[in-house]
Amino acid sequence: MPVIAVIGAQWGDEGKGKIVDLLAEEAEVVIRFSGGDNAGHTVVNRYGEFKLHLVPAGIFSPLTTCIIGNGVVINPKVLLEEIDQLNQRGVDTSRLFISDRAHLVMPYHLLLDGLEEEARGGKAIGTTRKGIGPAFADKTARLGIRTGDLLDREVLRERLHFILSYKNTILTKVYGADPLSEDEVYAQYCQYGEKLSPYIRETTAMIEEALEQKKRILLEGAQGTLLDPDFGTYPYTTSSSPLAGGSCLGAGLGPTKVDQILGVFKAYCTRVGGGPMPTELKDEIGNLIRERAHEFGTTTGRPRRCGWFDAVAAKFSTRINGFTQAAITRLDVLDTLPTLKICVSYKLGEEVISQFPSSAAVLEQCQPVYEELPGWQAPTSHIQNYEQLPPQARQYLSRLEELISCPISIISVGMRREQTIRKRPIF
Ligand code: IMP
Repeated sequence: MPVIAVIGAQWGDEGKGKIVDLLAEEAEVVIRFSGGDNAGHTVVNRYGEFKLHLVPAGIFSPLTTCIIGNGVVINPKVLLEEIDQLNQRGVDTSRLFISDRAHLVMPYHLLLDGLEEEARGGKAIGTTRKGIGPAFADKTARLGIRTGDLLDREVLRERLHFILSYKNTILTKVYGADPLSEDEVYAQYCQYGEKLSPYIRETTAMIEEALEQKKRILLEGAQGTLLDPDFGTYPYTTSSSPLAGGSCLGAGLGPTKVDQILGVFKAYCTRVGGGPMPTELKDEIGNLIRERAHEFGTTTGRPRRCGWFDAVAAKFSTRINGFTQAAITRLDVLDTLPTLKICVSYKLGEEVISQFPSSAAVLEQCQPVYEELPGWQAPTSHIQNYEQLPPQARQYLSRLEELISCPISIISVGMRREQTIRKRPIF
């Protein structure tokens, strides 16, 4: 039985939440493997509309076990609020588990995220200011505190004492900010520990058992490939790997266990925060897409930058993830446009290039070279069968399929589960 990784193929916000929610109906385990509450996965189903930041989107399927993997950084306050809100709206969270290896977002991470962004001035990354970068930096610097540490108050006190005295020095001496009180942070995190302890587990054993029992497992990505710290538009990236490769690391299973890698692409492009985006539209069409698709960040409410589909970036995304299938979301957003453009190469000075540059400074200078296709100018959000799509919409999808070199399995034409065209089976 397959293990499927669901991966954001662009700059995040591709609609992974909807796709995971949909596939979770057929899956027995869903594991979120990267990021933190910088992610915002919008899900619309029979319980209503939800904006999930940490809890896997599989939580709505009554028989699905949901795991927040070791690769996620957890702000316990945000997670507890999310669990409360789900419970209040009738969603059962008793099948939710948290890896004891997942690192915690601490109050100094939130402060430092803001202070570091301000220090960057005009070169700010435009982070979500959720403390994610500083939390992952501390993980790598061996200065992190993990969810498992919440289960032993002595360990927690000892770790916090050492780390907080160091962080307070940075807060006060580098940034002139106020120090944090060790006693207050300790008391707060002890409380979080009490509330979260029923969920915290050594999760790799659970995953191994699920694999042995041939259960269907979804690895739920957060953010998108072009925000990856290695392969994204560095330094305008996030700080954990949203890639298929990152899914094994962040969930706790070997690469040979993953059967399918589903790349989720929007039918156009969006980006939130700083950094290059060659197909960005700063005109009426960009505004129209933003308004029509309500392209405002789920986590921060910031307007998303909108643009045409970038096939140079998409091909690169397929290359480094090894997608076996693709999902195209928000096709309906393009319903009214008379003509559509797809970026098929970049012009860099006098040269035409078809490779996605590794340098953000170079990408910044790239001008998109477009191919034009006719629009369909007809509604698609009621269509559930591929053959019923207008011929121009099928032509657009076929061209995307060709350019990204990956078969399209799912096409999403609206927020709701039923607004989905299944072109090929996934499981
Ligand atoms: P951070 O992950 O908060 O450090 O932000 C780094 C960059 O990633 C910024 O450009 C953010 O806007 C972007 N980013 C982080 N999370 C998401 C997401 O879930 N969707 C889209 N962009 C994101």
